[in-house]
Amino acid sequence: MRAAVLYEHGPIDNLTFEANYREPKAGPGEVVVKVKASSLNYHDVFTCQGMPGIKVPLPVIPGLDVAGEVAELGAGVTGWSVGDPVLVNPIWPGKGLMGEMLDGGLAEYCLCSAEQLIRIPTGVTYAQAASLPVAYGTAHRMMFDNGGVKAGERVLILGASGGVGTCCVILAKMMGCEVVVASQSQSKLDRLKDMGADHGIFYDKFERSIWGLYGKPHRRTYDGGVDVVVNFTGGDSWVPSMKACKRGGRILTCGATAGFDPKTDLRYIWTFELQIRGSNSWSVSDLETLMQMIADGRMSPIIDKELPIEEAAAGIKMLENREVFGKVVIAP
Ligand SMILES: NC(=O)c1ccc[n+]([C@@H]2O[C@H](COP(=O)([O-])OP(=O)(O)OC[C@H]3O[C@@H](n4cnc5c(N)ncnc54)[C@H](OP(=O)(O)O)[C@@H]3O)[C@@H](O)[C@H]2O)c1
Repeated sequence: MRAAVLYEHGPIDNLTFEANYREPKAGPGEVVVKVKASSLNYHDVFTCQGMPGIKVPLPVIPGLDVAGEVAELGAGVTGWSVGDPVLVNPIWPGKGLMGEMLDGGLAEYCLCSAEQLIRIPTGVTYAQAASLPVAYGTAHRMMFDNGGVKAGERVLILGASGGVGTCCVILAKMMGCEVVVASQSQSKLDRLKDMGADHGIFYDKFERSIWGLYGKPHRRTYDGGVDVVVNFTGGDSWVPSMKACKRGGRILTCGATAGFDPKTDLRYIWTFELQIRGSNSWSVSDLETLMQMIADGRMSPIIDKELPIEEAAAGIKMLENREVFGKVVIAP
C-alpha cells in the first residue's frame, strides 16, 4: 500500500513516501480500516522531530486521526460490517496512541482495535470526521468539561488559527462568549474575525491589548482582564497570559507549542487567585457530540487543505511553519 513512513527522527523530510509498504492484517478483535481521510496535528511535528522522554518505536506511520471504511474484520469482531463508515478513536486501549506508538493513518489502510470504532453519522464527511479527534476532541474537553466556559465570559484564545484554536473559537462563540483571538498574522486575524471572533490582537505585549479592551485586572475587585485564557502555546506567552486574566480567571492549557518549561510568576497566581486547568485528550462522548453538531449543521471544522499521501511531509512542514489555518487533511 501507499504510506508515509518515519524511519528516523529529525527534520520533517525524514518522513518517506513508500509506494509498496506492507499492508496490515486484522487479528482477533482487530479491524482494518480503508483510510478515506487522516488529519495532521502539531503532534506530528513532535513525532517527526522526536520528543524528550517519549520513545517512539520506529519505523512508524504517523497520522493520529483516521476516518474511513471498515475493510476487514478480525475473528470475534461483532456489530460491524465491511463498508461501514467509521471514525477511529486514536487511543488503542492498552497499547497507546496510533500515529505515534502504533502505525496511524497516513496510509491506504490502518489497523485498530474494534473498541476504537465510532460510527460516522449521515451528513458528516470523512474529512470532517478525521479533523475531530485530537484537535477538536481535546478543545471540546478543555473548553467545557475542564474549562467550564460559560455564556457571556470574555475568552482570549492564543494560537487561535490552528486545529485546537479554531475549534475553541467555534465553541466559545457557540456558547455566547466574547472572544479575543491572537495570531502573528493579520490575514489569520481577518479570517478568525470572519468566523465570528470579536477582537483580534498580535502576540507582542498582548496583555496590554487586553488591558486596552477590558481594563487592567484589579487585585481587589473582579474588574479588568478576561475570564479565560486558552494557552497551549507556553513559552514566552505564559506570564503575559497571567497578566491578562481577571481575578479568579482560568488559564486552560493542553500543550506547549513554543516551549513546555516557561518562566512563571507565582505572584499573579496567588494575588489574582488564578486557576490553571490542564486538559489531556478527549473522551468518546466529546467526539460523538462534535459529529452530531456537524450532522445537525451547527458547526463545521475548518479545513485549510486536502493533500495526497505523497504530500504528507509538505503538510506537516506547513504546520511547523505556521502556514495553516485550521486543519490539513490527507486523503489517500
Ligand atoms: N494534550 C493533548 O491532548 C493535545 C491535543 C491536541 C493538541 N495538543 C497541543 O496543542 C498545541 C496545538 O496543536 P494544533 O494541532 O492545534 O497545532 P496547530 O494547528 O499547528 O496550531 C498551533 C497554532 O499556534 C500558533 N503558534 C503560536 N506560537 C507558535 C509557535 N512557536 N510555533 C508554532 N505555532 C505557534 C500558530 O498560530 P499563529 O501563527 O497564528 O500564531 C498555530 O496556528 C500543540 O502544542 C499540541 O501538541 C495537545
